[in-house]
This record gives sequence, structure tokens and C-alpha cells, in this order.
Amino acid sequence: MAIPVPEKRVAEFEQFGFGMFIHWGLYSQLGRGEWVQHIEGIPAFDYQKLQNTFTAAKFDAHKIAETAKAAGAKYITLTTRHHEGFSLYDTKGLNTFDAPHSPAGRDLIREYVDACRDVGIVPFFYHTTLDWYNPDFNHNFKAYLQYLRDSVEILCTEYGKIGGLWFDGNWSKPNEDWEEDALYKVIRKHQPDAIIVNNTGLSHRGEQGNCELDSVTFEQGRPTPMDREGMTKYMAAEMCQTMNAHWGFGGADVNYKSLPNLIETLCACRKVGANYLLNVGPTAEGEIPYMQEALLRGIGEWIKNVGSDALYHAKPCGVSGTGKNFALKDGKKMYFFVHDLAVVGDSNVTVEGGGAGEKLFTGLTDEIKSVRWTDCDETLAFNQDGGNVTINCTGYPYGKSLVVRIAEAELA
Ligand code: GLC
Repeated sequence: MAIPVPEKRVAEFEQFGFGMFIHWGLYSQLGRGEWVQHIEGIPAFDYQKLQNTFTAAKFDAHKIAETAKAAGAKYITLTTRHHEGFSLYDTKGLNTFDAPHSPAGRDLIREYVDACRDVGIVPFFYHTTLDWYNPDFNHNFKAYLQYLRDSVEILCTEYGKIGGLWFDGNWSKPNEDWEEDALYKVIRKHQPDAIIVNNTGLSHRGEQGNCELDSVTFEQGRPTPMDREGMTKYMAAEMCQTMNAHWGFGGADVNYKSLPNLIETLCACRKVGANYLLNVGPTAEGEIPYMQEALLRGIGEWIKNVGSDALYHAKPCGVSGTGKNFALKDGKKMYFFVHDLAVVGDSNVTVEGGGAGEKLFTGLTDEIKSVRWTDCDETLAFNQDGGNVTINCTGYPYGKSLVVRIAEAELA
């Protein structure tokens, strides 16, 4: 059966490849994650006092957008309202539990979208559907859904063209009618090209939902290849992940993933054509924590070294490698992602050439004319036999080690 052709906005979203997730709200002041109110059972009356100390004093939207851009991210998804129910945007009278009615005294989403546009990053809005603030959520669900639509309509009409909306929380009432068609109709009316995502959560990774949705989500877990044969609509895929164990700021969470782990995860997402949405959790006053900024910078340096064409534009092509190795294709170019090469140097200073040597890739339907490393233009010897090719992969010259190295092949 045929694979559906992606709508233009979905095809463009897939080419974004890498985005930065931002979880920032009143909870950031407590430094114990975004679920702190629920997990610690903080009474609503006490929790909502956090609005009185929310200053956004160090929230520099331009600096954050520049950090994302330097990391190689093409879009940012920022929590405009998380489960706590506090809005970083002006809710235009829906309630006063929003940033303009806090010591921050301003519309932080306005600053966010303006900064994104200034630096050429596409702004996406995360918006919770699970709400711990609005009593209608538990006592008058239909009224709550109207409140949700009214809130989303503000985001779709007050901030210019947006990249998309990322909903999260429907999993909290699995048997309720969330009136999704009515919600997505509001978006399509004002933002016809917006990507719509609704997170299926930790226990339903990759599941498809409402036909208006444009991407499936893989929360915290590696994405699996999507079998789109026979699908009525081509859906993109996106994997979202924390750098440590928390989405919202975790002041005592030092359990960070390594830079190699993050680089390999980015590659693993692109291996199956999925986007990688990597999270930062700014501090109470709105700064990205130094470790998260450093890891983002490291990813940006890696992308600069290996080049970006393979990452953003190339797609899965049915060519397999051994182990973690894989290949992507973009027109007359094929990109081979090679893992676990070692630094070649003196036996007194480096571990001898581990990992270098012939790497097998199978399933090719093209003839290769030439192969070179993208990070140094070194030409690589190869031997192709029909659909199989072995590439003689050299180790890193002393002074370089890229975790994943990319070889670019010119195709006949
Ligand atoms: C889960 C968490 C939520 C977080 C989301 C990010 O749904 O409940 O706090 O924003 O994952 O994917």
C-alpha cells in the first residue's frame, strides 16, 4: 500500500530535525520539578502564592533563542501554561493567574516569539490540557474545555504566525471526551499551517490519535520506525527528552546524560526520520542552567564539525549498517553515520585505533561514486558489491573525537 504524501507543513517540520523544549513556570522557583505541587500535595492556596514572587528577572528571551540557534535547534517549544495552570502569556481577562499579573509584570510569550523571529528560530507553544488550577477541570469539564479553547485562541491570534501547538495532559482523563475536533478547529481557523501535537505520554509512545494531529510523540524513549503504509495522513514523529531526570528545574538533579549520549540520541532520532526535542528547565528567574547550556553548546559544536545537511534534510532510505551505524539519503547524496571510532595516535597516549576499519552497509539501490568524511574531506576507500558496500573508515586523527562521524557519498 502507498505511503501518503506529507502535507507541506509536516514535511517542513520533519526537516527541522532538532528542537529545544523549555519547561518554565512558577514551579521553577521551588527547584523540584514541574510536578512538585501534585507530588508534594501542596494546597492550591499555598501553591498559588508563588505567583507573588515570580519576577522573570533574568529571563532573556534573545539569549535563550541564540542558545537554541547555536545548538543547531530549528525550533523551540516553550510551556505557555503547564499543569499548574499559570500562564506565561496575557490571558486577556480569562483570569489573573498569569505573568502580567505577577512581579514579572509582562507578557513573556510576546518576548519569546519576538526573540525567536529575530534569530530565525520557529516558536512553538506547549499548552497543558491537564489543569490543577481551574476548578472546572474536575467539576465542570465542558466549561473547562471552553476555557481551554479560549486560552488557545488567544495564543493563535495575539502572537503572529506560530510553528505549532504541543498539547499535553489528555492522558490524565483517558475516558473523557476532550472535544479535540473543536480545539483543533480553533487552531486551523487562525493558524492553518501550525503543527498540532498532542503528547500521548510515557505509556503510549508513538501512538496515533486524532486525524488533525501532525506528529506522534515518543516521550523519553527512543523513537521506532513508523510504518506509514496505508496511513490516510502522513504523520511526523518527535522524541522529547530531558537532559537529567526533570522537565522543570531540578536544583538537586545532577544526573545529566552525557554529551555523547545526547549526540547518539539525536542521530538515533534522525535514523528513523524523527525530530529530537531536547529539554531545558530554566531557573526561577528564567536562566538556562549552566550544565544544560554547556550540553547544548556541545551539540552545536558537533553539528558544526560534521555538517548539517545530513542531519536536517536526509531521510531514511532502507540502507542498514551494523550495530548503531546507519545511512540516510538526500537526492544524489548518501550519508553514513559511523559510531565508536577511536582516536589514532601514539600507543603511549591513545587507545590504539579501536573501531576503525571496514564498515558494512546493506540495502543500497544506488551506485556510489565516492565517499569522504564530512568533518575533514578525507576520501575513503570503499568496495561496493550490488546492494552492499564496505567503507574503510579511518579513526579520528589525534586531537579529534566526534562520537558519531558522518561519511558523505556521491551517488551515480
Ligand atoms: C509528561 C509530564 C509533563 C511534561 C511532559 C513533557 O507529560 O507530565 O510534566 O511537560 O511529559 O513531555
